[in-house]
Amino acid sequence: MTALKLLLGTKNPDKAKEIQAIFGDSVTLLSGDDHPFADVEEDGDTLEANARKKATEISKETGLAVLSEDTGLEVDFLKGAPGVYSARYAGEEATYQDNVDKLLDALKGESKRQAHFRCVCVVVFPDGQELISAGQLNGQITTNARGRDGFGYDPIFLPDGFSKTLAEVPTSLKNQISHRSKALRAMKAQLDKHMA
Ligand code: IMP
Repeated sequence: MTALKLLLGTKNPDKAKEIQAIFGDSVTLLSGDDHPFADVEEDGDTLEANARKKATEISKETGLAVLSEDTGLEVDFLKGAPGVYSARYAGEEATYQDNVDKLLDALKGESKRQAHFRCVCVVVFPDGQELISAGQLNGQITTNARGRDGFGYDPIFLPDGFSKTLAEVPTSLKNQISHRSKALRAMKAQLDKHMA
């Protein structure tokens, strides 16, 4: 069986490595370096809308099948915020640290700290067909940041069943349990069916 060619709608090399490891040989991942595309504004109200918009626009521009994903941290006490606005929770130019500080502040003195990361993956084919998958990682927001690995909200996210934050565990372990790996595995299963 020839491998499906899929253009990655992300320019983040760490994500590309993670995605290739999960997809294995059945999918050849193409990069924006070889198939340039314009940045797509992530202005949707939902993770699904953003992932779909990125995959659809990049597929139209390049004529290729495209995989895009969007991720957010949804905090129960904040009714799902920051959610789709996770990257710019503390403002358009916010750093990871600004966002972490704002979230710790919003939960100050609060004992209800349940949250989850949610990742949505969308593949759009040149004929407009679409596949969608999602993955979730449940946990708690800590009261202070711990650990140096990972990125984003990892230092304040304690996955259920773990005593270390996502920034304290090895990346290999994070990649086994993460929202993104669950969504990608679910997408791999759909792609296998699609190609069969
Ligand atoms: P994106 O969809 O990967 O661009 O993620 C949006 C924002 O969510 C990022 O800027 C991070 O703040 C946060 N985020 C996404 N994935 C993770 C993760 O695996 N750990 C911690 N934060 C994440």
